[in-house]
Amino acid sequence: MFKLQVVAFLLSVSEVISQCPPSSGIYLRLQNGNCYPNRSFIADTIIRSTPLECVLPDATLNDGQWIGPNGAVPCDGGSNSNAQCTTGTGPSANLSVFINPPNYLGAPGDGWYKCCLPTNCSDPNTNIIFANIFRFAQIDSFAVADLPFDMTVYPQEYKLDCTKIGFEFSYDIRIGIDNTALASYTGCIDDSDTCPGTVIDSSIYKIRYTVSITWDGMTVSSGSVSQSTTGDQMYQCVVAVTNQPTRIRNMTIKAPAIAPSSLTEQLQKAGTSVVYPLIALILTLTLSLLIYSDMQR
Ligand SMILES: *[C@@H]1O[C@H](CO)[C@@H](O)[C@H](O)[C@H]1NC(C)=O
Ligand SMILES: *[C@@H]1O[C@H](CO)[C@@H](O)[C@H](O)[C@H]1NC(C)=O
Ligand SMILES: *[C@@H]1O[C@H](CO)[C@@H](O)[C@H](O)[C@H]1NC(C)=O
Ligand SMILES: *[C@@H]1O[C@H](CO)[C@@H](O)[C@H](O)[C@H]1NC(C)=O
Repeated sequence: MFKLQVVAFLLSVSEVISQCPPSSGIYLRLQNGNCYPNRSFIADTIIRSTPLECVLPDATLNDGQWIGPNGAVPCDGGSNSNAQCTTGTGPSANLSVFINPPNYLGAPGDGWYKCCLPTNCSDPNTNIIFANIFRFAQIDSFAVADLPFDMTVYPQEYKLDCTKIGFEFSYDIRIGIDNTALASYTGCIDDSDTCPGTVIDSSIYKIRYTVSITWDGMTVSSGSVSQSTTGDQMYQCVVAVTNQPTRIRNMTIKAPAIAPSSLTEQLQKAGTSVVYPLIALILTLTLSLLIYSDMQR
């Protein structure tokens, strides 16, 4: 579980425009050149001005398709929830989705889309890539940073990062555990910096909100707020825009349900002055043993 979360976090960091185009395989690219990794969040406002291409290099299009939450997006005529598709030109199989202004994506079209190339999505051998095309705002990611290697040593400090993407005019964001808000901001207007988020990409209003957590084995606290908890910690990030569906993302940090062992606690209290020499001693002994047993062969 830890490893999964850490990997997810590393992925979200390295997502900052990967190779474009990648050396092989299906990929997503805005017609202005930026590539997007699998499972990216893309605001409908972006594809109003710039079609989102799904491309499979050196392949011949044979009935490929884009399918959204409201069904297939018709290509070269017609639309679904105002989303349209065009068959692209060039040496690759290429299908673009876009929305013609003054329209925006219709509510039934908000959600996950998959692009299948070069054949349609019912072909088990087709290539598939996903994008979440959304109205207003979405949660681009909710992840833990600086997660300690060993959750049985206390106290621990780590960070929760919730990244909002899209809608910049007025939104509320809350990061909490159980029913306790660790951070809560309302009426955030990105252009006026009314809330303390970190700008990741101003062009798509990608703003990261961070909460620093201290955990002593029994209580999670952030600033003056605290919440007692044992076992797995269930966090939630909520982004709300007036009159729009609320976006919620959950995250669980695995933690032992039992109280810290007295040994671990004592070592931690004594601080690094005891822990590190102890680790060094153990390592030295292990190494000596290894060398010794090697010499015996
Ligand atoms: C996909 O098709 C569009 C429209 O014909 C074209 O402008 C674009 O260059 C094509 N993309 C690639 C990667 O071939
Ligand atoms: C997908 O393609 C297969 C074979 O190319 C075809 O038989 C099938 O009807 C297609 N399905 C859809 C939904 O277009
Ligand atoms: C995209 O992710 C989905 C599921 O997470 C996976 O099945 C698919 O193979 C991935 N596609 C690419 C191109 O990475
Ligand atoms: C997130 O957690 C809440 C409450 O803990 C639960 O009601 C909801 O179903 C969860 N959502 C997802 C997507 O897991």
